[in-house]
Amino acid sequence: MKTIIQNGTIVTATDIYKADILIENGVITGITNHYSAAPDANVIDASGQYVFPGGIDVHTHLAWPFQSTGTADDFVSGTRAAAAGGITSIINFTNPKKGQTLLDNLQEWKKKGESSLIDYGFHSIISEYNEHVLEELPILADKEGITSIKLFMAYKGELMVNDREMYKILKRAGEAGIITNVHAENGDIIDELIAESLAKGNTEPIYHAYTRPPITESEATGRALAIAEAANAPIYIVHVSCADALQKVAEAKKRGVQVTAETCPHYLVLDESYLELPDFESGKYVCSPPLREKWNQDLLWKGIASGLISTVGSDHCPFLFEGQKTLGRDNFAKIPNGVPGLEDIFSIVYHFGVNEGRISLQKFVEVISTGPAKTFGLYPKKGSIGIGFDADLVLFNPNASRVITHKKQYQNVDYNLYEGMEIKGTITRVLSRGEEIVRDGYVIGEQGRGKFLFRNKVSKVHSTVSAI
Ligand code: URP
Ligand code: ZN
Ligand code: ZN
Ligand code: ZN
Repeated sequence: MKTIIQNGTIVTATDIYKADILIENGVITGITNHYSAAPDANVIDASGQYVFPGGIDVHTHLAWPFQSTGTADDFVSGTRAAAAGGITSIINFTNPKKGQTLLDNLQEWKKKGESSLIDYGFHSIISEYNEHVLEELPILADKEGITSIKLFMAYKGELMVNDREMYKILKRAGEAGIITNVHAENGDIIDELIAESLAKGNTEPIYHAYTRPPITESEATGRALAIAEAANAPIYIVHVSCADALQKVAEAKKRGVQVTAETCPHYLVLDESYLELPDFESGKYVCSPPLREKWNQDLLWKGIASGLISTVGSDHCPFLFEGQKTLGRDNFAKIPNGVPGLEDIFSIVYHFGVNEGRISLQKFVEVISTGPAKTFGLYPKKGSIGIGFDADLVLFNPNASRVITHKKQYQNVDYNLYEGMEIKGTITRVLSRGEEIVRDGYVIGEQGRGKFLFRNKVSKVHSTVSAI
């Protein structure tokens, strides 16, 4: 089956140019000035449209048990939402059960992933350190194509590991060609601040932010980076929310630490004032790290523009307002942490980044597709438009507008963080490996067509032994 995309403007992380794309068996096999419509080809006219590589969201929590509840999207609703929003690959977090091996846990998650509409991979979370876990790391990378893991420095009693454990895991992961995602917040200080706050009767959602101040994130970010440096291992700092934490990333980069940093759409666009909305509306915006004071946004955007931040991930961790977020109506510490964003990440970063003049089109592609692909071992199969790449493509009309509303979303959530925001630029079609899965905003692809992503190992490029 041949498909030709005619007359579009191709955008990659480095180039913008007009050309036609030839797709055969799901792969891009030609890019040239003009392909005439062969009789056996499906021809798509992309006049007046951008052709972007599909978005790659490396930070999702579909079907994820957490904080005595579980996320509202599974691999069916979640990957439909992703596709509608221009995302053609995700990397989801697993969640281990107590006493379960990483490999056994992974098989359970691969089963869940089978209902996926788009391509999917996993980061294995390690929340319980033991020698066996270390032995499993090379097997995960070599046999399973799982070349990333995740560690938490917060959520004590549920996910948190200590520094010594982090060091040992990072070291072995680095040797095995695995990059370690780190959630960097000082869990011990946060738990104490929460206890102090509740003891004073301060229970409203704004205290979620006050008990997780920037210092708790920047301290943990600096510590994680020092541990990675000592272990001579690559590290990925997830969801950088504030200038102070970003500063730690900049300092570590200067020292030669192999660090990649991510931020999320909500930190770029929303701020702490949402946690003061009346009638517990504020509960919808509770995530960790919390939304920050507005001035941080400018520094995060500049971090993207300068290359200090190389990816934007949604941290899609959706909970229903009614029945899940409301668990914490009288106590912010009981509000499940996390917000929805998988369906909107592509549009939000495009609109507030490109339309508002903060980043170039190429930079948009870099943080939404190329950066994530390169960081997580998917490049050069995913993450750009070129010969040999999977034909994961988003056709985008930059002149049409739409208003975001939860009433029209595929995400299985009863609200949307960006409700009422007008976005200039609409997704007209999405192709996954050459197959049209979204047309005119509607998902038409079939569940279960997504493929598991067996990923390349991550090479260590830096040594911490400095020459000077
Ligand atoms: O609030 C958040 N981010 N919830 C999801 C779990 C995590 O920390 O990534
Ligand atoms: Zn043409
Ligand atoms: Zn996190
Ligand atoms: Zn997360």
